Amino acid sequence: MSAQLIKGKQISDTIREEMRHEVEQLKAKGVIPGLVVILVGEDAASQVYVRNKAKACEDLGYYSEVVRLPADTTQTDLLALIEKYNQQTNIHGILVQLPLPKHIEEKPVIDAISVHKDVDGFHPISVGNLMIGDDALLPCTPSGVIELLKRTGNSPAGKHAVVIGRSNIVGKPVSMLLLRENATVTICHSRTPNLAEVARQADILVVAVGVAKLVKEEWVKPGAVVIDVGMNRLPDGKLCGDVDFDDVVGTAGWLTPVPGGVGPMTITMLMANTLQSAKRAHGIV
Ligand code: GUN
Repeated sequence: MSAQLIKGKQISDTIREEMRHEVEQLKAKGVIPGLVVILVGEDAASQVYVRNKAKACEDLGYYSEVVRLPADTTQTDLLALIEKYNQQTNIHGILVQLPLPKHIEEKPVIDAISVHKDVDGFHPISVGNLMIGDDALLPCTPSGVIELLKRTGNSPAGKHAVVIGRSNIVGKPVSMLLLRENATVTICHSRTPNLAEVARQADILVVAVGVAKLVKEEWVKPGAVVIDVGMNRLPDGKLCGDVDFDDVVGTAGWLTPVPGGVGPMTITMLMANTLQSAKRAHGIV
């Protein structure tokens, strides 16, 4: 038996179609969702991500601005720009593309973004609200993972979810979301002994460590749902995940491919956050 593929592109397209209708309704009320993406420097991967974010805005009829700043931009100037967009009422989401150049600290920049416009879900107040289960803009990749699970009939409720990775961007927030969805959650990391053995207990295995093909067949319980958040570039230029797809596909029940699994969901959830933020700004719930 071969795993059923979780087709992120298809699911992402479906969510965008659902959103299109909502955007039309909002536009009829005179509200156009607005997103600004700020890129400092010339990181090649970031340039691609930023272009794709602008394209998604265009596709959904959002107002979008992309601000490209030179690599030697000062932290003071970046903070001033964020403050300008905090005040600008036609902008509902502010995203500062990471990583930032070394001379700029990430924390003051994330903290400077108004929590109401924090479409990345990285602000400490957003993170705190997620932790205590209050309303919050949720980080995009983790909420994309939950959508993939729910929309393939793999509700986390009552399942044992094992998350490998404890980053602030994926591992920690996806663990909180799985808990909120009533899974029993185990978080593993580089110091976890017997990692393969723990992973093998998972009904749902989420892997976000950035190590190409780490997860092998013997790490996976037969029939388990395996969500691969990894995106690694191999020496031959090909992309691959943190899961050894060919090794695991015969054992897992469900499996996300890389590319085409989790990846397409991230930008779609960013669009969903921007829409939600625009609705809230205008008192529409
Ligand atoms: N760089 C890579 N992924 C992300 C993301 O989700 N948000 C931001 N702001 N920067 C990133």
